[in-house]
Amino acid sequence: MTQQPEQVAHQRMIAGRYAIITEIGRGGMGIVWLAEDRTIGRRVAIKELHLPAGVPAEERRVLEERVLREARAAGRLNDPGVVTVYDVLQESGATYIVMELIQAPTLTAIVGRDGPLPAETVARIGEQLLSALEVAHAAGVVHRDVKPSNIMVLPNGRVKLTDFGIAQSTDDPRLTTSGVLVGSPTYLPPEVIRGGQADARSDLWALAASLFYAVEGRAAFERPSTAATMHAILNEVPYLTRGQGPLAAVITGLLNTKPEARLSTQQVRGLLTQVVHQTVPHAGTALYPANSTRESTGPVKRRNPWPWVAAVVLLVAGAFTGGWFWGRTGLVDPNVDPAKGPTYSYGDATADIPEFELGQGGCGAAPLASGRSYTGSTDCAGPHDFEVLYEYNPFGSEEDTEYPDQSALRALAEASCSLVFGLNEAVPAGQRDSLVHTALVPAKESWEAPSSEMNRNLYCLIARRDGKQLTDQVVPKN
Ligand SMILES: Nc1ncnc2c1ncn2[C@@H]1O[C@H](COP(=O)(O)OP(=O)(O)OP(=O)(O)O)[C@@H](O)[C@H]1O
Ligand SMILES: [Mg+2]
Repeated sequence: MTQQPEQVAHQRMIAGRYAIITEIGRGGMGIVWLAEDRTIGRRVAIKELHLPAGVPAEERRVLEERVLREARAAGRLNDPGVVTVYDVLQESGATYIVMELIQAPTLTAIVGRDGPLPAETVARIGEQLLSALEVAHAAGVVHRDVKPSNIMVLPNGRVKLTDFGIAQSTDDPRLTTSGVLVGSPTYLPPEVIRGGQADARSDLWALAASLFYAVEGRAAFERPSTAATMHAILNEVPYLTRGQGPLAAVITGLLNTKPEARLSTQQVRGLLTQVVHQTVPHAGTALYPANSTRESTGPVKRRNPWPWVAAVVLLVAGAFTGGWFWGRTGLVDPNVDPAKGPTYSYGDATADIPEFELGQGGCGAAPLASGRSYTGSTDCAGPHDFEVLYEYNPFGSEEDTEYPDQSALRALAEASCSLVFGLNEAVPAGQRDSLVHTALVPAKESWEAPSSEMNRNLYCLIARRDGKQLTDQVVPKN
């Protein structure tokens, strides 16, 4: 842009070098300016920090020093997903952060304009943010303020994470020691609300909250008041209506209130990769489309899936059982999973399936149907009607654990079955379209039987969608 001479004369300069052109936006901590670096002749974004009124002088000094230190640390990060910090300076008592100018809307603006984004788009955003955070964490930098307004998405799909170490106080980004709350706590991780230190795992929690926002079109924990928001973050299970499969596993697996129970970056990457590479058939497809004629393609070499099973079932169970949170269903909506078959109860005379005695990797010799019992496995190398994808007991065997509400039990079994079914390590992607999965849940008598007979397993079974027999084993042997 060419400036008129009189404008140049009156133009505000920072450090004798940066000419302010116009305001780009403002947030809780200050104003972001579009400016020109006259030395290099390039445009930059400059964040002018304004600490909120009410922060005492001493704390203000500590805060400013910390901001400077952290912004400098962030300035050393070199990742395409991180907005580069060029310079940090103080002039006449004000602090400025000079950074790469990003001409792109924030995730807040995009979702505000377009509504919820498709799962694949969200997963691609997630992958890039994960890489950026991994680079930062490896360098010892914790972002502490990951949220949709700090995520910018370029028209080519590239993602830029901004505000590293900018909105900081001594211990956390929003709650200053004097108790002044800066901005909304919607993206504050539970451990930070509880007064703990933010660490790499806190950034992952906030990443998941941001992905939730992108895929659902609303913030998971936004409530009418600050207190209600904090209460929700500490106690509530996020309710996903659009996110499903591996993306839902990422979001719920990271939104765990316990940092140590969150998924690892490696697990998150594996799940996000699946979303990106998996073309999930459209929601609303018939459960048993008769058009699938593909034969299963025989055993494929792959990693042992079973650690995944436990992790996935546990994370779904964890989300459901935050204090035996049984009333709540719909964490993942398996009803929009086109591969979902019926769910049956098993284990007593009145159950759909009175007896079920197959184990993981076992193969059934009769079609799955209500009213039948299955007491033995057939040879998986020959024709068979179904396979046991997994059996798993997330409930323990305490005798006095009460039998849960059966609809919640079913929802839990269906959600974990959907998630495991979606893992390439468990079911090869190429075979998924021709299969259905069916969950089995223990009936009351099975749950309450004396411990030697007690069976509280959840089972996930797979069969062909067209009802024909399987000829090759799909589930890898343990
Ligand atoms: N490097 C940048 N390049 C271009 N625009 C930017 C850059 N950084 C921030 N912005 C814009 O400035 C706006 C204000 O950013 P700012 O960080 O002050 O507020 P915020 O992130 O919305 O809220 P908070 O202060 O709570 O972090 C952003 O919404 C974004 O549109
Ligand atoms: Mg910001």
